[in-house]
Amino acid sequence: MKWWQKTIAYELYPKSFMDTRSQGTGTIEGIIEKLDYLASLGIGAVWITPMYRSPMVDNGYDIADYTSVDPSYGTIDDMKRLIEEAKKRNIRIVLDLVFNHSSDKHPWFLESKKSKDNPKADWYIWRDAKEDGSAPTNWRGIFGGSAWTWCEERQQYYLHTFASQQPDLNWAEPAVRRALYDAANFWVNLGVGGFRIDAITYVRKPDVFEDGTPDGDDGMISVHDMTANQPGILDYLHEFKKEVSEGHDIFTVAEANGVSADELKYWVGENGAFDMLFEFSHTNLEFKGIETWCRPEPWEISDLKRALRNSQEATKDNGWYPAFFENHDRPRCVNHYFSKNADHKAASKAMGMLMMSLRGTPFLYQGQELGMENVAWPSIDCYNDISSYGQYEFALSEGFSKEEALACVHAFSRDSARTPMQWDDSENAGFTEGKPWLPVNENYRTLNVKAESIDPDSVLSWFRKLAEIRNEHPVLMDGSWNELLADDPDLIAYERKNDNETVTVIINLSEKEREYDPSLTEEKEILLVSGDDFKHGNLHGLQCIMVTDK
Ligand code: NOJ
Repeated sequence: MKWWQKTIAYELYPKSFMDTRSQGTGTIEGIIEKLDYLASLGIGAVWITPMYRSPMVDNGYDIADYTSVDPSYGTIDDMKRLIEEAKKRNIRIVLDLVFNHSSDKHPWFLESKKSKDNPKADWYIWRDAKEDGSAPTNWRGIFGGSAWTWCEERQQYYLHTFASQQPDLNWAEPAVRRALYDAANFWVNLGVGGFRIDAITYVRKPDVFEDGTPDGDDGMISVHDMTANQPGILDYLHEFKKEVSEGHDIFTVAEANGVSADELKYWVGENGAFDMLFEFSHTNLEFKGIETWCRPEPWEISDLKRALRNSQEATKDNGWYPAFFENHDRPRCVNHYFSKNADHKAASKAMGMLMMSLRGTPFLYQGQELGMENVAWPSIDCYNDISSYGQYEFALSEGFSKEEALACVHAFSRDSARTPMQWDDSENAGFTEGKPWLPVNENYRTLNVKAESIDPDSVLSWFRKLAEIRNEHPVLMDGSWNELLADDPDLIAYERKNDNETVTVIINLSEKEREYDPSLTEEKEILLVSGDDFKHGNLHGLQCIMVTDK
């Protein structure tokens, strides 16, 4: 097995992790300061979301220079020190490659927009207006509004899958791909342990750009439906592999939704372009297709079970699964999967056991190890996240009231995952001595690293135990995944099995008491069980158990 298949990864959102300069936003130095904490979680890789120079319209996913560090975070020397200090603790630093688009302040775009005969004229996707002067197609950007913006200087529209400040790069231009690979190799040479690759499904554009049938009252259709996963995309991705990852001891995990099971082998694994794919079937249960916050549909635990089953089965022979339930784009999992009145501590533990015992590499998201929760601020103006504004406006355009539109933001805003890390119960949760860029979640006085570190029953202690168990029981890394109780509507259960050991996991994802066949756990050693009133054959709401036959 490769090191990254055996490890636990941690996703770190640097703007909200640790501020050492009283500026209200996190710093690289802050990450270095907290490396011992990260090591104490038993993790071996830290994926840091973009920390490159950026105007921060999308908090770093709009990059103005791929080989520099944003001054608010620090310097290249700080990054070098971080990579070295992390290595001393057996942690590798993994960076985020945002290669579908750059910032509109990137020097490449500033050149490209100057004129149609500029040497970089074709580095972005430019099209003439329709005869009436309107946008070339009726595509809606992922953050709302048209996916096209008019450029006065060049007298053409440019395409942006996301915000207008994030123009899409033209991968059909070989010099663009070369420049991107060079940027990635700059970081490989500095010793990073891998890459998470952003929005990769959009890099190949369709041969013909045409209007689609509108999917909303705004007369537009999501750009995703018109441009994602185009034929020919794999040629680019295999070239990326050859030019960047091959021959290096690094891993790649690409954000890619909608790859079909029969295509998977070209995307991941030995003959695929990447090592792992982040797909969202299990986190987007309420959305059929594109995420539209005002149109969630009901879902059941069996839907979650099916999504996980499909991805466990699909990655059995192709590539490797990155197990996650939270990231910087999603609500906190305790709020997302469970009711308002659920026991959120029990829910955090249940989701933790699930994530850490599926077959794959767990990706723990900053604050998930504390059981951090969503925020629900009183007005849209309190939010920072660009997509929250787009979704709010879209909901209004679909006839929802302001209150209803705000309720959608409360449920799905990306800001909920981005509030400052809760270190202790001092002002601003110990994150900053300045004014935090996003308010700290009010629950920080009880829910924080300091308090949870000394509480053996805390969510943090639970994650630490899970990490220990994983390290002591290699079956959780290399064992097969065999589902049990597949038809049960509430319990998710499976065995992890290798030649030496079988670990059985049963998790009651419902909030009600449930019975199961006691022989599944009886006469086996209990590795971990939540709650303090366990009886074989019975799990109270959100209770979970892990046993071994060894
Ligand atoms: C996916 C990233 O995870 C998200 O945060 C970002 O806004 C978009 N891609 C655009 O880069």
